Amino acid sequence: MKRQRYTGSNYKKALNIEDMEHIAKRRLPSFVFEYVYGGSDDEHTLAHNRRVFDRYLFEPKTMTRVGPRKLSTTLFGQEHRLPVAIGPTGFNGMLSHDGDLKLALAARDAGIPFVLSSVSTTRMEEITAIEGLTAWMQIYFYRDRHFVKSMIERCARAGFDAIVVTTDSAIYGNREWDVRNFRRPLKPSTANLLHLLTKPGWMKDVLWPDGLPTFKNLDDLLPPDKRNAQGASQIIGPQLDPTLNWDDIAWLRDVWPGKLILKGIIAPDEAEEAVQRGVDGIVLSNHGGRQLNHSLSPMDTLAEVKARVGERCQLFVDSGFRRGTDIVKALALGADAVWLGRATLYGLAAGGQAGVTHALGLLEKEMASTLGLLGFTHLSELDERCLRQMS
Ligand SMILES: Cc1cc2nc3c(=O)[nH]c(=O)nc-3n(C[C@H](O)[C@H](O)[C@H](O)COP(=O)(O)O)c2cc1C
Repeated sequence: MKRQRYTGSNYKKALNIEDMEHIAKRRLPSFVFEYVYGGSDDEHTLAHNRRVFDRYLFEPKTMTRVGPRKLSTTLFGQEHRLPVAIGPTGFNGMLSHDGDLKLALAARDAGIPFVLSSVSTTRMEEITAIEGLTAWMQIYFYRDRHFVKSMIERCARAGFDAIVVTTDSAIYGNREWDVRNFRRPLKPSTANLLHLLTKPGWMKDVLWPDGLPTFKNLDDLLPPDKRNAQGASQIIGPQLDPTLNWDDIAWLRDVWPGKLILKGIIAPDEAEEAVQRGVDGIVLSNHGGRQLNHSLSPMDTLAEVKARVGERCQLFVDSGFRRGTDIVKALALGADAVWLGRATLYGLAAGGQAGVTHALGLLEKEMASTLGLLGFTHLSELDERCLRQMS
């Protein structure tokens, strides 16, 4: 029998992230939903990112006197209420007005870090102004290194605790949904423009206040006539620098005094090299299946990476996490925390800031019950012995 699905549009009634995804799908124009949902090429990696969790099954202990569960964890010496962070995603203003701010405020309220994308639609200074938020900034390496340097200096002035360099996107993934939906970068086809008329709620929330959101942190890179979303996207793509290599990281390590995190590593050798080069954190990631198709999932290499890097850096993981059980499996294999991508974006699209809070609450509840059913009360009790890998 097929699993029962929620078919309404009230995010408060969503029982899981998949319900949130369905609400987001109904609320967003199709080309916006497809931009979020889609993967690259024929989406093998997108599907693999979900299937990989089925390979690990739990071996629970049932007589362990489980007490109230504690899900807190310490990252870079600071305690957080949950072992998750909201990862960087670009163009969040397309899902909900001031999307970045809503995600950041929900992260602050949940006691978890928030990572702002460099292609965000909110100025970075507005994020670091949020009282009580742990804010990290993601950057790409652009060909214009003066701009990269000025961006890093701006991050320091704004007060970010960490910079996250995305390493897997120097060449843009082949996302065919977007190719079909847009005549030119960010210029929707006529059919898609007409389809907007069927989404008055989204138009009122997203387009009504200030028109199409723009990339607020890239103004210095863009000539004045290219500072709208379409103009910017014509320039940003060619600016991504495929020559990114370890020398760039060494340079960054010299100029950035704060925590440095690399996002997009999959290979254990690269994880090891990152640590040797003084990187403070690694995010094992295949970019949610949006870059190299047929890539391994971070879950495929996590245990090996942990064995290689040990406690020498903070180890994060993302791509495909939709359930508390997924998160607990990654923690058991050695991750310090999981970064969320689409899970919280669906919350944002379904219900704004309160939708993100609801999505985080669902994951928290699932993590707490998973931990208890495994026979544990604290995350520190988790290790690979509570999992069996099926062939
Ligand atoms: C709509 C969207 C936009 C994204 N934009 C960025 C970005 O600007 N920078 C970045 O490093 N990663 C970006 N990512 C990748 C996410 O940070 C993360 O690696 C990925 O979403 C994790 O997979 P999941 O969505 O299955 O959880 C984006 C992902 C999505 C879905």
